[in-house]
Amino acid sequence: MPDSAPHSSDKPVKKQFVSRLSPGEVVSETFFLREIEERSTRDGRPFLALKLSDRTGILEGRMWGQTLDAGNPAPLTFVRIEGRVERYRGRLRLLVEAAGVIEAAGLNQRDFLPGSYRSTEEMTGFLSYFLTEVFDEDYRTLLQSFFSRSGFMDKFSLAPGDVRSHHAYLGGLLEHTVSVATLCQHTAVQHPRLNSDLLITAALLHDIGKIEEFCYEGRISLSREGKLLGHVLIGQRMIEQRLREELPDFPREKELQLVHAVISHHGELEWGAPKRPQSAEALVLHHVDNLDARVKGFFEVLRGKGELSWPEVKNYFRRPLDEPAAADREPGYDRG
Ligand SMILES: [Fe+2]
Ligand SMILES: [Fe+2]
Repeated sequence: MPDSAPHSSDKPVKKQFVSRLSPGEVVSETFFLREIEERSTRDGRPFLALKLSDRTGILEGRMWGQTLDAGNPAPLTFVRIEGRVERYRGRLRLLVEAAGVIEAAGLNQRDFLPGSYRSTEEMTGFLSYFLTEVFDEDYRTLLQSFFSRSGFMDKFSLAPGDVRSHHAYLGGLLEHTVSVATLCQHTAVQHPRLNSDLLITAALLHDIGKIEEFCYEGRISLSREGKLLGHVLIGQRMIEQRLREELPDFPREKELQLVHAVISHHGELEWGAPKRPQSAEALVLHHVDNLDARVKGFFEVLRGKGELSWPEVKNYFRRPLDEPAAADREPGYDRG
């Protein structure tokens, strides 16, 4: 996420970030505590080993002479750290003197998770453009009922695209959605028999269930709804609820076509689709969705190689990947 990312004015501005710390630096800053465990030195002296993170990376911490007790912050909380940076065996490490829990509500979540390389404004601009490219009144009204509401857009533009495999950062859902809509529109130009209005509408709505699928305070994880329902079913329920409550005269056939494309976008039953794609538009959406996720996932795998880089991805392609030479890289390559 660019450094110029907007901050809510009522929330403290984070000044010290993991990737910019230097040896000897005095630290008085908030981090997300990913892990805390008690260990002991070879001669039996206890210490606490911490893993601290923010949007730029993860850093090990040490609290010497401390044992794990009720006074220590619990893992998966935000902590105010007082300490000093040291270099140990070539790596930076935090010598922690004090660690106190901070309430998540008072913090800007964008400081603690990686964000999209592209600006939110740029991507919401593309999203607005796609709304003007849908000429069917019914589909456009449905789209506006979601995307022109600030409460929905606040969530939609902050949500990640996934826990780890692709677009696993704040703003990832918006970025992925705009990318899928763009590729779908190109496909509709190439194949004019496709129903472009249906395809773009389905592209914009296909992953809206992700706004409820994840928790993203300090780390990205599945919510209770995400674990038990998943975004395909959550999204279907959101669309059907909106039609029932606000657009009761929405034509049934258009609803069926749209809902079919949304629920089948994962393509196969074993990939989480309750139905396999049976219309041309559903088939295109499935392949475009997969294409965008795979291409983005490829660059995120390469980016995840560094010790302190985000996110900690495994290579889900299960094969060695060919990294472009530095000279061939596009600006922004390192953000995937
Ligand atoms: Fe999906
Ligand atoms: Fe998707």
